[in-house]
Amino acid sequence: MRYLILSDIHSNDEALSAVLARVRRKKYDRVVILGDFVGYGANPNQVIERIRAMRRARIAIRGNHDKVVCGLDSGDLFNPVALKAARWTAEKLTPRNRKFLAALPIGPLAVDGLFVICHGSPRDEDAYIFSDYDAYRNFRESDASVCFFGHSHIPSVFTLDPRGIQVDVVAGGKFSLKLERGRRYLINPGSIGQPRDRNPAASYALYDAGRRVVHFDRVPYDAGKARDKIHRAGLPEILGDRLLVGA
Ligand SMILES: [Fe+2]
Repeated sequence: MRYLILSDIHSNDEALSAVLARVRRKKYDRVVILGDFVGYGANPNQVIERIRAMRRARIAIRGNHDKVVCGLDSGDLFNPVALKAARWTAEKLTPRNRKFLAALPIGPLAVDGLFVICHGSPRDEDAYIFSDYDAYRNFRESDASVCFFGHSHIPSVFTLDPRGIQVDVVAGGKFSLKLERGRRYLINPGSIGQPRDRNPAASYALYDAGRRVVHFDRVPYDAGKARDKIHRAGLPEILGDRLLVGA
């Protein structure tokens, strides 16, 4: 089985379309989405509808922005910019798309008995994994050998082997990683719609579970168009400006 792994799309339809165009000729069986369909960007309905229209079997979990936008969480821990965007999104969503977000399951979730997915971390869907200590706590409290997570918007790999935890940030473009037996992995495919590693290109991964290989990839897209839409929508301008620098 081959899995297309998408995370943190954040209402960015230009970035999502560019990634789906890139993978059109690649072979994959299922689409896996690690949450944060919406928030920040100007096209929440288009993004949800594009994902819903994908014919391949889909498995998805909710992110913290999805929760706030559909009213499952107050957002009182959000910064003012994120909260403003969440409120704007809540107003724009169609009832059908709001229902779709509200019905998304909570991670962690096992996929086909092969790996686990979560938004922030296996211990807590809203908590970040940035450091080796964050990874350590999650390795200690869960037993998945392969887990894909999102939320930090940084394509990265945390590996546990008998010598300890290794932290790798996946910089640049294409990168393939063979998962070794006897090691455990926490893997972030990066963000489609709001990259934060100083690379504005959309980030995603493909996982070939049979060969145990993760392929990371970056896709440049028209970030200027996505920014202009954010500005025109009256969303906080910084959300658009950040897209151009990947921050
Ligand atoms: Fe996010």
